[in-house]
Amino acid sequence: MVTPQAVEGAALQLRGVGKTFVRADRSTVLALEGVSLDVAAGELVSLVGPSGCGKSTLLRLIAGLEPATTGELRVGSEPITCPSAERGLMFQDPSLFPWLTVRRNIESGLVARGVLRQRRHEVAEFLRLVGLEAFADVYPHQLSGGMAQRAALARALINHPRVLLLDEPLGALDQFTRMRMQDEILRVWESRGTTMVLVTHDIDEAIYVSDRIAIMTPRPGRIEQIIDVALKRPRRRTDARFLALRAEILERLNLSGDPANSSSPPALDNLSR
Ligand SMILES: Nc1ncnc2c1ncn2[C@@H]1O[C@H](COP(=O)(O)OP(=O)(O)OP(=O)(O)O)[C@@H](O)[C@H]1O
Ligand SMILES: [Mg+2]
Repeated sequence: MVTPQAVEGAALQLRGVGKTFVRADRSTVLALEGVSLDVAAGELVSLVGPSGCGKSTLLRLIAGLEPATTGELRVGSEPITCPSAERGLMFQDPSLFPWLTVRRNIESGLVARGVLRQRRHEVAEFLRLVGLEAFADVYPHQLSGGMAQRAALARALINHPRVLLLDEPLGALDQFTRMRMQDEILRVWESRGTTMVLVTHDIDEAIYVSDRIAIMTPRPGRIEQIIDVALKRPRRRTDARFLALRAEILERLNLSGDPANSSSPPALDNLSR
């Protein structure tokens, strides 16, 4: 069994983070401006905001794949300057290696770090954690979408990331599989205490899984509001307080469908995507 650990996660601190991209024609795009956010060790925070507001950019900065133009990012007390296995990233597309079995795909994280020999025994533990023991020796094309996402989750987790960055990881799944995967992510989060930052366009998903929801403005992305989800887990999607919070967020985003709000442009233009 995977040994439950108190809190494997690390705190994240973002201070006045900005990102300007320079295009090939030398024009610039201000993608993020003045983003400050603290995520406690073991906390699960969702980022919600309109398409193009810089959510993926923010995750890439936290992952260390791009430098910030302004501001500071820290994991624990360390400044983020480059990618690290302690910050895992999972995308909407599970991007498994099609020529490797599920087991080999999960092992690939260990291979990349040159620790396969010492840590190979953990592969079976993570296969069990995501319920894929019976599928260890099959190839990605033989998996359903949900199974492929679970394999990708195990691959992201095998390096014991202290921070797991999830960029719409369930966006391509049907609603039923998506809800089951939300429970899967929560189970992993609870058993390992990994700090998680989840980008999602699904308000229900954000309420169901998050400790807090950060709502971002259209580009340049800033954090407009942070909402505490003070509902006990396991949460019920039909609970009156769940629905009240959902209504409050939709109102807040001018997406409630109330004609009184229809003159204002929606703050989030692609939530139904
Ligand atoms: N490498 C790049 N070069 C130039 N502009 C970029 C680059 N990467 C992102 N951008 C721009 O930065 C802005 C933010 O992009 P980003 O992908 O972070 O948005 P997003 O919030 O993740 O959107 P979506 O919800 O559609 O995934 C966009 O205007 C995008 O065109
Ligand atoms: Mg994105």
